[in-house]
Amino acid sequence: MVIELVLFILFLVLAFLISKHFRVNHLPPSPFALPIIGHFHLLSPLIHRSFHDLSRRLGPVFFLRLGSLPCVVVSSPELAKEFLKTHELSFINRSETTAVERMTYNASFAFAPYGPYWKFIRKLSTNELLSGRSVDKFLPIRNQEYMRLIRLLAKKAKACEPVNLSEELPRVGHNIIGQMMLGKYSSASRAEKARLVVREATKIFGEFNFSDFNGIWKKLDLQGFQKRIDATHHKFDALVEEFIAEREELRKKNIDGGNSTSAEEKDVKGFLDVLLDKVEECKSSTENGEVEFSRNNVKGLITDLFSASIDTTSISMEWTLAELINHPEVLKKAREEIDRVVETGRLVGESDLPNLPYIQAIMKETFRLHPPLAFVARKCTQQSKVGKYIIPENTMLFVNIWAMARDPKNWENPLEFRPERFLQLDADDSTNAIDIRGQHFQYLPFGSGRRICPGLPLTMKMLPTLLAIMIQCFDLKVSGAECKNTSNGKVLEMDERPGFTTPRASDLVCVPVSRFSSPIKYP
Ligand code: HEM
Ligand SMILES: *[C@@H]1O[C@H](CO)[C@@H](O)[C@H](O)[C@H]1NC(C)=O
Ligand SMILES: *[C@@H]1O[C@H](CO)[C@@H](O)[C@H](O)[C@H]1NC(C)=O
Ligand SMILES: *[C@@H]1O[C@H](CO)[C@@H](O)[C@H](O)[C@H]1NC(C)=O
Ligand SMILES: *[C@@H]1O[C@H](CO)[C@@H](O)[C@H](O)[C@H]1NC(C)=O
Ligand SMILES: *[C@@H]1O[C@H](CO)[C@@H](O)[C@H](O)[C@H]1NC(C)=O
Ligand SMILES: *[C@@H]1O[C@H](CO)[C@@H](O)[C@H](O)[C@H]1NC(C)=O
Repeated sequence: MVIELVLFILFLVLAFLISKHFRVNHLPPSPFALPIIGHFHLLSPLIHRSFHDLSRRLGPVFFLRLGSLPCVVVSSPELAKEFLKTHELSFINRSETTAVERMTYNASFAFAPYGPYWKFIRKLSTNELLSGRSVDKFLPIRNQEYMRLIRLLAKKAKACEPVNLSEELPRVGHNIIGQMMLGKYSSASRAEKARLVVREATKIFGEFNFSDFNGIWKKLDLQGFQKRIDATHHKFDALVEEFIAEREELRKKNIDGGNSTSAEEKDVKGFLDVLLDKVEECKSSTENGEVEFSRNNVKGLITDLFSASIDTTSISMEWTLAELINHPEVLKKAREEIDRVVETGRLVGESDLPNLPYIQAIMKETFRLHPPLAFVARKCTQQSKVGKYIIPENTMLFVNIWAMARDPKNWENPLEFRPERFLQLDADDSTNAIDIRGQHFQYLPFGSGRRICPGLPLTMKMLPTLLAIMIQCFDLKVSGAECKNTSNGKVLEMDERPGFTTPRASDLVCVPVSRFSSPIKYP
């Protein structure tokens, strides 16, 4: 009797251990799911925060089923490295939605599967537009837009009028990226028209929430959304066609007339020109195994680059300025650095950046606390064993950049805005302790590996320069109505709004105050 009981208990223990062993050997931990909707009920609109809360309960990797979509969420640097580096090729693709396909002519760059086409456009975009060298080639365009912003702020300062930076910063971003890609806009009204169309198009990307990935919701919402996508797509198509037609006209004249283009235009061969060259090349050599590259691919690439760049850059800039308004001691230190490096009467410019480490550290600290994309989002291309877990094919991977950047395990006083942490040198080697290029997995604002953001060199020139210029020339005053009372006195609200990116909940509207009475000279 006793022996039987012991055997029975032993059997139970063994069964438990075996089942546990098998469970552990399969999916990562997962909370209780409801029928049909799976784990949707656990998510708030600020998904990165919901994921963060879940990771505190379930550990640094967990599994969810959002409707029919299996997801794995990762929130520790060690596991992020496992997924994004050790198993890079298993998580190298992204999940494309029908709206993205439509908007980008089924020729997206950011959503292209890893393969010959992706390699082709990644190389092309990098070499001709986004590498450090190409970015430098387009400096005159950026200088012109920096000056435009300064003139606007100076005018507002003179009139003591508020300026809506939530509107002006995306405009700067659009004008810079648009003109780098399409060539100089011939007039302000042209720029404005382009900006409105592009904004509508990028808004469609921004409107994705998780329900769009879900079979049931997708069907319910499809009709209305699809119509809007088509209408926007149409407008965008007409706009880009206009630019392409103009370019083609110019190119024809060039061939016929020899020297009808202005010296300036010849000097900088625009990105669009290079793309059109490629279209011709691919047309005449379809047989040699090259990838297909048609007019639609050109348009798709342009849509994609617009949508990847404008919100991310302007949102980061807004957060940075808001943090500086809340941290006058950081602003003071930054201003001292600029005044030390740049002689009086000269405007700070991109070439000063190597001498402005503190300004760069401020940008990096903003990317840490407010990464415009809260996740690195990928898809599992083949069933993979990662650590002790097996991840099924087609599982979505979310690496929670936002959560890792706020985890006290990875950072000292993580919620403090302290740019100095990016100036600290490593004890072992004398390089910067934290790298922005995805080598330190607690800090991945631009992702990591082969699919790291190709816009990084442009971003790290444009944003620190804009910031330095604003710090050098203006003080920004907020009225106080948009502030909240805290133990440190009044501070600007720092809430987030839900969305594909992570923007500020409230608009940034300030009155600029000029620091100089006489206009400053541009180098
Ligand atoms: C504050 C600025 C920006 C941030 C924080 C940012 C962040 C990111 C992140 C996190 C990814 C995903 C990387 C991965 O999966 O590992 C990405 C991809 C991408 N970004 Fe950015 N980005 C910014 C600006 C830009 C700009 C200015 C451009 C272009 C002009 C750009 C173009 C792209 C493209 C094309 C991809 C897809 C790359 C691929 O799949 O191969 N981004 N970005
Ligand atoms: C995804 O990536 C793999 C490489 O890891 C590639 O072979 C595959 O064709 C890609 N495309 C899709 C749609 O999975
Ligand atoms: C996009 O291309 C893929 C494969 O090339 C195809 O399966 C899909 O149906 C296409 N989608 C659209 C909207 O054309
Ligand atoms: C600021 O601009 C944004 C974007 O255009 C707009 O939605 C918002 O209403 C504006 N806010 C104010 C106070 O003008
Ligand atoms: C997100 O999904 C909900 C349905 O769950 C839908 O009502 C909403 O319009 C979608 N878009 C945005 C921007 O919230
Ligand atoms: C080239 O330009 C010059 C002056 O700009 C003009 O005199 C000359 O006729 C042009 N040549 C051709 C072939 O158009
Ligand atoms: C903040 O405190 C001041 C008094 O110190 C008060 O007048 C004001 O209404 C408060 N604002 C908010 C948003 O609570």
